[in-house]
Amino acid sequence: MVDEMIKMARAAMLNAYNPYSNYAVGACIRSEDDELFAGCNVENVSYSVTICAESAAIGALITAGKKKIKEVVVMGSGDALCTPCGACRQRLAELALTPDIPVHLCDTEKVQQTIKLNQLLPGAFNPEHLEK
Ligand code: THU
Repeated sequence: MVDEMIKMARAAMLNAYNPYSNYAVGACIRSEDDELFAGCNVENVSYSVTICAESAAIGALITAGKKKIKEVVVMGSGDALCTPCGACRQRLAELALTPDIPVHLCDTEKVQQTIKLNQLLPGAFNPEHLEK
């Protein structure tokens, strides 16, 4: 099952728009009903406007009418394993089916490391914080 996610993340990564960093990222996320959504990074000359691969995949999932994320694959074009940035950890936490969904850090062929989302973002700010 994760093999298909890796394939989709790899295909997305090849489409990255990354003229400033030249660093490509591909992500694939699985919805609550096992549909897969991929994304790549989309950079901008105004650097902070850049969209991360995980964000692009989340946009596709929500646009398709899905609500939750069950599993995540991320890969980057560098030698070091790509991990989701801090902002994307928070975005993933917002929609995670459970706090401990697996995040697979991959090369272009296979999973190199699997880590739970709540290990990547312990103590996440969540809706309970808004309650009195
Ligand atoms: N990037 C992502 O797409 N996802 C991450 O979680 C880490 C960083 C992108 C943003 C930018 O286009 C490039 O990687 C370098 O920071």
